[in-house]
Formats: sequence, C-alpha cells, structure tokens
Amino acid sequence: MSEAPAPAVSDLFDKVVNLCKRRGFVFPSAEIYGGFRSTYDYGPVGVLLLRNVKDAWWRSMVQLRHDIVGLDAAILSPPAVWEASGHLKNFTDPLVDCKVCRERFRLDRLDDPEVCPNCGSKHSFTEARQFNLMFKTYAGPVEGAGAEVYLRPETAQGMFTNFKNVLETSRKRPPFGIAQIGKSFRNEITTGNFVFRTREFEQMEMEYFVPPDESPRWYEYWCAERLAWYHDLGIPEHMLRLRAHEEDELSHYSIGTSDVEFLFPWGWDELEGIANRTDYDLTQHASHSGERLEYFDQAAGVRYVPHVIEPAAGATRTAMAFLMAAYDEEAVAREGQGQGEVRTVLRFHHRIAPYKVAVLPLSKKPELSAPANDVLAQLQPHYMCDYDETQAIGRRYRRQDELGTPFCVTIDFDTLNDHAVTVRDRDTMAQDRVPMAGLLDHLRARLDA
Ligand code: GAP
Repeated sequence: MSEAPAPAVSDLFDKVVNLCKRRGFVFPSAEIYGGFRSTYDYGPVGVLLLRNVKDAWWRSMVQLRHDIVGLDAAILSPPAVWEASGHLKNFTDPLVDCKVCRERFRLDRLDDPEVCPNCGSKHSFTEARQFNLMFKTYAGPVEGAGAEVYLRPETAQGMFTNFKNVLETSRKRPPFGIAQIGKSFRNEITTGNFVFRTREFEQMEMEYFVPPDESPRWYEYWCAERLAWYHDLGIPEHMLRLRAHEEDELSHYSIGTSDVEFLFPWGWDELEGIANRTDYDLTQHASHSGERLEYFDQAAGVRYVPHVIEPAAGATRTAMAFLMAAYDEEAVAREGQGQGEVRTVLRFHHRIAPYKVAVLPLSKKPELSAPANDVLAQLQPHYMCDYDETQAIGRRYRRQDELGTPFCVTIDFDTLNDHAVTVRDRDTMAQDRVPMAGLLDHLRARLDA
C-alpha cells in the first residue's frame, strides 16, 4: 500500500448510487420502461445486503433474547384497524400545489414556504390541505364501499392486533416484546435521496409491552440499545446521534420520541425512531374491537393495559446508511504490479457484507477449476460465497473490494502441489498462504472474530 493520502470522498452520494447500479446492489424499478416513480429493486448483491441487515436486527432483537418473540402479520388490512389506530384521521402530510407549474410539494419540507422550488414562482401555492399517506385498494372482484382495504403504512399495528394471541400462546409477561420485519407502504408526497424515502419500503419494528410505571426506564434502555446496534455493526460514532423530538414533531400516538440519526451526505437524518406510545394503541383497539387487551398480573393481583416502547427502524434506509458509512477510497500500489491507483472499497462489518468470501481460481483452466470448486463446496454451507474466474486477478480483487467482500481465496498453480490457497484481506490487502484442509477454520476465526 502506498503512503499517499486517501482522496477526499466529496460527492459520496453520487458515488454510492453509481456503485449500487454498477455492481448490482440497487436498480431503478421497471427500468426498461423508463423506471417507476422512486421505486427500486434490490439486485443480486443488494438482496444479500438487505437480508444481512434484517438478519442482524432479528438476531439482536429475537435470537439473542428471551423476552421478545417474532411475528409476520398481513400487509392488507381492513379500515377498522386504521380507524382505531388513528391513521385514517391523522396519518397525513400538508400538501400544496404550485398554481404556476402545477407541481405538488409537502409544505413542511420546503426550504422556503413562499417560493416554488420547481419554477421559482413566489406566493404561487394553494392553501395547504391534509393528504392521507395510506394506499387504498379493494379486496375481491367488486370495487367500492365495503371492499376497501389498506396497505399497511407501518408494521406496528399487526403487533397490537395480535397482542392477545401472542400473550396467550407465548407464555410471556410484561416486560416482553413482539418484533416484526416487513414491507410498509406510504403514498409519500415527495420521495427522494435514492432509497431514503420511497413509497414501498421495509421496516424493522418492535413493540415492547411494559408495566405503565416502568415505561420511562425502558424508553431510555431502548434508546441506548438501538444506538449501540448501529455502532456495533461498524457505523462510526461521529456519524450517529440520538435526537429527541420537539413537542410539535411527535406523532399522534407518542408522548416522547428520539430518533437515531445518521450523517447522510445531505446532513443529519432519521434512521429509526424510538417512541413511547403509552397505552394508546391497545386502548384504541380494545375500545374499537370490544376485546380486552390487558394483562392480569396474578402475583400482584392487578390488571393493567401495558404501555409500549417502540423502536421502529427502516431496513432499506439502514442498508443505505451502511453503504454510505462503508464507502472508502484509497490510493494503493496496484497489487502485483506496483503502479499507483485508487481503489474503492466498501469496508462493511463482516455481518453486513453481502458475500463473506470470494473464490477465485487464477485461471479458467480445468486443473484449477477442480480444486476451486472443492474450496467452494467446503465454504458454501457456512458462508455466502461468490465465485469468479474471469479477468485478471487484480481486477477481480477490485470488484470484490467494491462488493465489500472481506476475504478472497485464490487458487493458483502452486495449489496443485502444496494444497494451499492464498487468503487476501479486503481491508489490509495482506495475503496469507493457508492449507486447504484448514481453510474453513481459518476463515471462521477471522470472520466470527
Ligand atoms: N411504527 C412507527 C413508525 O412507522 P416512522 O418514524 O414513521 O415510525 C419508522 O417509521 C422508520 O421507517 C423510519 O425511521 C424510517 O427508517 C423508515 N421509513 C419511514 N418512512 C419511510 C419511507 N417513505 N421510505 C423509507 N423508509 C421509511
């Protein structure tokens, strides 16, 4: 590696968006038809990244705890759910139209509420009207009254409507939580910043039901836990912060919310909200459904409606933050040749990296394909692996750097004699010769460290 300083990563946003398309992380949806309004498809590498983000969340929320269980509720839901939750009435954003260019904007997101950012006209906006963000559709063959259903705008409500089912079947008692990962839909007035704000996105939410007097303590607990989660998975401290909502920012159900914010290229913005939803949702659903949504504490002989602390994160938005935080450029000597070049590398935490290992036979010749396939067969049951036998080895390393693959395993002609392979480290580019027989243990020690 040369001693030259790394180039400044100034236009990070464009570089990451570009890399996402070039390397198969994210494609514009329906691109062959010109794309479709800020919707995106996750490509062969992006789907692995997104899955790893969700798996890491599930692992910390469900697998490593005894007080939280999972759920996968329906996306389509009847109006009664959204009537009770308050979304039909309150889940709105203020919408204004420019009378000159006819563009529509979300009033509270305008830099200057007097000037149209599209055509520059002054005082050209209509009166703001409240626009409901929920997508409505119809269930069954007949459209119209009585057949309306909504695509959920948050995964949370499925956890409240199943509170009784989960309580009765899981043998949990407060404090306990229900966790869910899944798609949510919002008819956002303005989308943008790539996958940051889209109309279809994935959420990772957990509702933690606690005795009412314990809610302040659990709110603090979950704020700290959730901030630490991002940090533990490699997002540097200086790119993360916790910000408490002002009174006028709070959602209709919350008495206190703090956002985990990430330093995006355009400034600090939300990754996750941790809210104290009190007993709002259970009380609302109890009164609208007629079901008792309470907990009876037999030992104390008291019956109460639990309060809820909710950490609510966006999986797609978080995947984007991991990409931004991992992106790096570094001036290096070309591996093996000694000429200077800039390499782009995604320094993902191992748990987040799409592929953990790339298996790279030095040439396409059958005598190397055979041991390379043996190596692949040894590793695939344990790790997501890429296999690549085209192009010069230096270019293949660069490709894996751009995918964020922690280790490349190269099979060369010496392998045929010494039954060893070269393990190349993404971050240091250091190369170690490792016997094939001990390769899995070697990688395991380094990947699971
Ligand atoms: N149940 C509470 C709730 O949904 P929220 O702050 O509206 O709270 C939680 O959403 C998270 O979902 C956000 O912090 C964000 O990461 C993600 N999210 C919300 N709207 C989004 C959108 N239009 N596009 C992408 N992610 C979104």
